[in-house]
Amino acid sequence: MERANVVVIDHPVIQTKLTELRDYTSDHRKFRALLEEIASLMVYEVTRDWPTTARPVQTPLERTTGRVLARRVTLVPILRAGLGMAEGVLRLLPDARMGHLGVYRNEQTLEPISYYQKLPPDIAATEVLLIDPMLATGGSALAAVQFLKGAGVGSIRFVCLVAAPEGIAALHHQHPEVPIFCAAIDRQLNERGFILPGLGDAGDRIFGT
Ligand code: PRP
Repeated sequence: MERANVVVIDHPVIQTKLTELRDYTSDHRKFRALLEEIASLMVYEVTRDWPTTARPVQTPLERTTGRVLARRVTLVPILRAGLGMAEGVLRLLPDARMGHLGVYRNEQTLEPISYYQKLPPDIAATEVLLIDPMLATGGSALAAVQFLKGAGVGSIRFVCLVAAPEGIAALHHQHPEVPIFCAAIDRQLNERGFILPGLGDAGDRIFGT
């Protein structure tokens, strides 16, 4: 598989938290907390090469020039499970605006069903972080990227926790310029489209459904 546009963030702290997250004994309170923490830590790496611009700043002692992010940021969680990462990302990027894309998989066909879209009006001029804990067949991510491109977005980064090789291949095939950031590439999908070893159904584990 071509891996050119995939970054696995295998930081030891993230891996430790991911292992706890996978553990089926972690209840939804613990699962939510871990998901937020991992999302925060990932942002640090995901945004590493974003451009900065100079900004004058007056310290208590003198005037100097600092650097700040050059472009505004829009965070777009894929509902529902992407919401579980949003607070963690916003902790590091508190000025980000948010868009929402509702997509769920038909459990029989595994086809993505889009049911909600709301994006900030000037999203095309911003850096977009598309977030969802899982990339399985890739159908949901493909639908979301397609919609964002239709809205004129030029810079999209897809951020997930666990990615299946099948989903990476599908997203990369259609949108090779969209980088995929994950904490792990898992082994495979099972016949029901669940990621193995995975972490179960993230949406259900976050919300206790
Ligand atoms: C899960 C997950 C992704 C999608 C991944 O959502 O959060 O959005 O499946 O699968 P795919 O790559 O094969 O599309 P789900 O359909 O369970 O919806 P939910 O978040 O509302 O529970």
